[in-house]
Amino acid sequence: MPELVIRGGTVIDADGERRVDVAVAADGTIAAVEPEIDATGTGATVVDAAGCVVAPGFVDLHTHLREPGKEEAETIESGTRCAARGGYTAVVAMPNTTPAIDSAAVVRQVLDAGRAAGLVDVHTSAAITIERAGEHLTPMAELAALGVKLFTDDGAGVQDDRLMRRAMEYGADLDVALAQHCEVEALAAGGHMHEGAWSSRLGIPGIPVEAEELMVARDLALARRTGARAHFQHLSTVGSVELVRAAKAAGQQVTAEATTHHFTLTDACCAAYDAVFKVNPPLRTAEDVAAIKVGLADGTIDAIATDHAPHTTESKELPFDQAPPGMLGLETALALAITELDLPLAQIIGLLSWRPAAIVGIDDDHGGHLVPGRAANLCVIDPAATWVVDPDATASRSRNNPYAGRTLTGRVRHTIYRGTPTVLDGEACR
Ligand code: DOR
Ligand code: ZN
Repeated sequence: MPELVIRGGTVIDADGERRVDVAVAADGTIAAVEPEIDATGTGATVVDAAGCVVAPGFVDLHTHLREPGKEEAETIESGTRCAARGGYTAVVAMPNTTPAIDSAAVVRQVLDAGRAAGLVDVHTSAAITIERAGEHLTPMAELAALGVKLFTDDGAGVQDDRLMRRAMEYGADLDVALAQHCEVEALAAGGHMHEGAWSSRLGIPGIPVEAEELMVARDLALARRTGARAHFQHLSTVGSVELVRAAKAAGQQVTAEATTHHFTLTDACCAAYDAVFKVNPPLRTAEDVAAIKVGLADGTIDAIATDHAPHTTESKELPFDQAPPGMLGLETALALAITELDLPLAQIIGLLSWRPAAIVGIDDDHGGHLVPGRAANLCVIDPAATWVVDPDATASRSRNNPYAGRTLTGRVRHTIYRGTPTVLDGEACR
């Protein structure tokens, strides 16, 4: 007996597109995928998907959940509710919390709180270095044994070349991803936006593209040496995309992500000194945006990530140079991709689901193939629906949404997490 039937939709997964209904069993797995599933008399909940696309749930490789330490900006529960509203069924939490996610105790705390919230699978990254201070490696083997699949000092890059080489040597043995927020501090220090014509005009100190590109080049070289699985976080420049493209063309096994804001916004957004547009890496130029889009289209960039980075209104109202960097992203990612990327929907769904799932090795449960027996991690999206972004219409504790008032196309209608609806008709139901 099905517990839930998704009726009338078109499935798009890694196997292509087909008009089918999806039945979900009481144990949270997919029970059947067939052209007509009659739910009458079964007592099953019927979820309407007429005119919609049924897709694998999305996977975000880059989510700041702020817990522990910054619960006024977000909690694991509020952040994962945002994720569910965005169509996600799994997220990877970033480690720049207080304390940092650099020990077994904090890894366990985050995983436990994720399970307790029960809205998506919460995976956590762990820091590469203790306190993300760049000096001593975390107990990577112990953390990997707890299920950590991605290590990063996100918020900062690992500056010390020798230490990064050692992290990659351990990472290669442990078969985990070594993810880098590529930023050379010596070049970025003191900067608050992209270094270019706009930073000159506004009198805001800039962060040059080389701050990112030099570290991309270094990590490509170190990954070649060590055999580590290098993953490049939030690429933002023409040069970074070219470096990764050339490495892949030469046969190197690396992966990369781009955020939604780096393919939709430019440094010109900073013209009114509104810190909602302050982010790290900074919003770059129209040429950089174009290069990110080409990178997403041609496979150089493997995944769309959100870098969902909640900050309190109080902190974002500080002067531009004092406000913290970061913007919300989980609830707008699909619509921004549909609205701004000139790509087939199947490719967009792949960038949001099965390709990031593979990077962290959770593709058995997320993304890929909607077939009987697999976990029912699904979202139902209306690719043609238009809506206006309202920063107050959010599950987040924060409001730092840079898309206020923008009309976007593509909306998440329902999200099903392990067989249970977390979002129905756009509203969180748990
Ligand atoms: O803009 C950013 N915000 N970039 C980062 O690397 C960190 C993040 C945050 O934690 O707010
Ligand atoms: Zn980062």
